[in-house]
Amino acid sequence: MKPAERVAELRKLIAYHNHRYYTLDSPEISDAAYDALVRELTKIEAAFPDLVTAESPTQRVGGAVLDKFEKVTHRQQMLSLGNVFEDAEFQEFDERIRKAMNAEEVQYVCEPKMDGLAIELVYEKGRFVQGSTRGDGAIGEDVTENLKTIKNLPLELPGKDLPPLLEVRGEVFIRKADFKRMNEQLLAKGEETFVNPRNSAAGSLRQLDSRVTASRPLSLYVYEIGVVDGREFATHVEKLDALTAWGLPVNPRRTVAKGFAGVKGAWSALLAERHDLPYEIDGLVVKVDRSDFRTRLGQVSKSPRWAVAWKFPPEEMETKVERILVQVGRTGAITPLAELTPVFVGGVTVSRATLHNEDELRRKDVREGDQVFVRRAGDVIPEIVKVITAKRTGAEKPFVFPTTCPVCQAPVKKVEGEAVQRCTNRACPAQLAGRLRHFATRTAMDIDGLGEKLCEAMVDKGLVTSVAGLYRLDLDTLTGLERMGEKSAQNLLDAITRSKDTTLRRFIYALGIPDVGEATAKALAEHFREVHALMKASLEDLQKVKDVGPELAASIRGFFDEPENRAVVEALLQAGVKPKPPEVVAAGAFTGKTVVLTGTLSAMGRDEAKEAIEKRGGKVSGSVSKKTDLLVAGEEAGSKLTKAKELGVKIVTEAEFVELLK
Ligand code: IVH
Repeated sequence: MKPAERVAELRKLIAYHNHRYYTLDSPEISDAAYDALVRELTKIEAAFPDLVTAESPTQRVGGAVLDKFEKVTHRQQMLSLGNVFEDAEFQEFDERIRKAMNAEEVQYVCEPKMDGLAIELVYEKGRFVQGSTRGDGAIGEDVTENLKTIKNLPLELPGKDLPPLLEVRGEVFIRKADFKRMNEQLLAKGEETFVNPRNSAAGSLRQLDSRVTASRPLSLYVYEIGVVDGREFATHVEKLDALTAWGLPVNPRRTVAKGFAGVKGAWSALLAERHDLPYEIDGLVVKVDRSDFRTRLGQVSKSPRWAVAWKFPPEEMETKVERILVQVGRTGAITPLAELTPVFVGGVTVSRATLHNEDELRRKDVREGDQVFVRRAGDVIPEIVKVITAKRTGAEKPFVFPTTCPVCQAPVKKVEGEAVQRCTNRACPAQLAGRLRHFATRTAMDIDGLGEKLCEAMVDKGLVTSVAGLYRLDLDTLTGLERMGEKSAQNLLDAITRSKDTTLRRFIYALGIPDVGEATAKALAEHFREVHALMKASLEDLQKVKDVGPELAASIRGFFDEPENRAVVEALLQAGVKPKPPEVVAAGAFTGKTVVLTGTLSAMGRDEAKEAIEKRGGKVSGSVSKKTDLLVAGEEAGSKLTKAKELGVKIVTEAEFVELLK
């Protein structure tokens, strides 16, 4: 192949993979494979400089260094959005529009509210000529050179029927994964890291040296048209489709919804998905679809009457560290915790945050009395993002990490190569209570009603000295505990009895072998099929199990080498616990298949559906990709459904799924 041909091919490939990654959230190749394409192109261009064009992806490295940003007057004012937080507030918004338009029901387009910064892009005959920040809405700053470094910003629109002048609005942001990688790289170079993706996107776009901007992984989505010559659109959907057809990156995650109920459904679905999204969002933007309605509705001061941002609860809030204490876990790990002045963040009231370990505590330099930002993301325990050092008064107290366990006073030890410190006494009451709680967990022995407080109380009163002791409890002993009535005591005993009938994978997981999670427990159960076989297994035997490496094998072997652990297993079996080996299933509809569950399932719970699929040899995954074989779409399925449709994944309703299980 001639160099010119290969160059053209590489540019096409790179543009394609940029689109998969940045626009569709669905990369097909690894970062390394992508980098290899860019490197190959760079090499050919270096050997044949004539082949270099301004639009080549290799040219997005920046170069221009400015003294200051020029001012840009927007052809049309850049509006911002009004906010609503509650159902009632959105209902009012919808009602105002219905009244003004004399319409029974209004159709809206719902889009994720990207948490970045607003920009305007100007294209003349399809060529990117200027880009600017919002500024005060009327006048912004010219950041063209910086914008040119954004990988998914088309410098030349590939589409057909391009308008002579097109001015679009969108958002520049940084994806979570890119943010993480960038911070890791900055940390490795000993440079200061960024607090969150939004701040770093804003900071990166306002760099006078465009080479700095080029080194930051910015992304772009466009969502509105400001000015367009010679085209009219009847609806917002038509507008978004035109932007897509011209080759601009439009977020595929949009829904069309009718009235309050429809929009509320879209809002809830997006909120539920928030943490699985590859970028940060802070709400749902709701826009009237019909263009004629928009014109008639007009605007008030700086925001349109036809759109609103329905915000999500904030995920980061300021509060005070009242006290720092440590908690002892089931493996003896000592975790420092901050007790906070309660604050409402991410939809719940938070009064504690983890500080992970001593190194982390030192790195963040959290002190008693500090004002801090706390953050709640996903199901993870809230954490302290940053101390607001400017608010220090001098009265803050640095925390002194204990050298003995605060519960049993045994010495605390740090294991070589690990960040955690551990209490060295396996009989420590805190460790025992932790082991009991883990044993009772829903995905382990599933003993309903045996929560953290109760485990602590039982250990405290000396009712049990190992997990096997649970099976020797009786009504009298239990009712002796504080706030334990006869009825709850009986319920607990029943739950304990029911737990005897269990599966080997649950049993192995429940033992709490260090680093053996649910997936490993499952693999071990399938491989050994009987607990004594596992207990006797050599390091080599163990490493024959899927995903078990030398370290994990050593951890498992070490666990069963402790006479006490072997005694607990025997005592459990003696007490009547019967771990069933995994069923061997004949190949069927789910063998080797990757299934994604989405929406609300009504015939069975998520866990139940997952178990049913796994029992039949299938695997359940949390997100839709090319590798997904089947999507089960329950009620109110949202963006996973949209994505599955885009990727051509087979989709079944819940009823069809239940049929397949039969
Ligand atoms: S539309 C007149 N759509 O939110 C409508 N804005 O508070 C103008 N934003 O300045 C904006 N995602 O920076 C729109 N899908 C989206 C958005 C979005 C994020 C930002 C934008 C705007 C701000 C308004």
